[in-house]
Amino acid sequence: MPGLQGVDTTVAEVDDMKKMFREHKGIRRAVVNLPNGIETITESDDAALRAAVVAHVVGMIGRVQAGRDPKVMIQSPTLDTVFDGRDRMETTIIMTATGVKVTQTSTDPVVVKALQTHAGEVSEMAEHGMAAVHERMAAMPDRHRH
Ligand code: HEM
Repeated sequence: MPGLQGVDTTVAEVDDMKKMFREHKGIRRAVVNLPNGIETITESDDAALRAAVVAHVVGMIGRVQAGRDPKVMIQSPTLDTVFDGRDRMETTIIMTATGVKVTQTSTDPVVVKALQTHAGEVSEMAEHGMAAVHERMAAMPDRHRH
């Protein structure tokens, strides 16, 4: 999966993403759109897959907070708005028995919309794996095609 390499990604980050795509059927996902953001629960009964999900969530949200965009080839352009809005965003991450619950809110409606769009894109990837990425990219302008 060469499209998972980024301009700034570690081997561990890419391995976690590969694992989530390959084993996406083992990921459960529930999303609630709040008036000012999102509340998501992402879980797995498989301990190794769960570890990849938790590491990804903690690591990527840490990147957003630090403004360190990984620039992965296939990443959604929605993330540009999420990174841009990092100073107008509140995030909490709580472990559940089998995964992780993320709450992200903002007072900026543009950021709220991006968070909700991105949460939907994550759900599509959890449900359909790489096929979801290919569908999204096929519907996009040339910028993110390869
Ligand atoms: C099967 C594939 C994937 C799964 C299951 C997944 C899962 C998640 C989850 C659960 C979150 C926390 C936010 C939420 O719950 O909506 C998240 C955030 C994030 N993911 Fe992924 N992800 C996947 C692929 C990717 C890819 C390919 C990238 C490319 C760089 C990526 C980058 C990010 C970033 C930057 C965030 C932080 C965004 C924020 O602050 O809300 N993810 N991902």
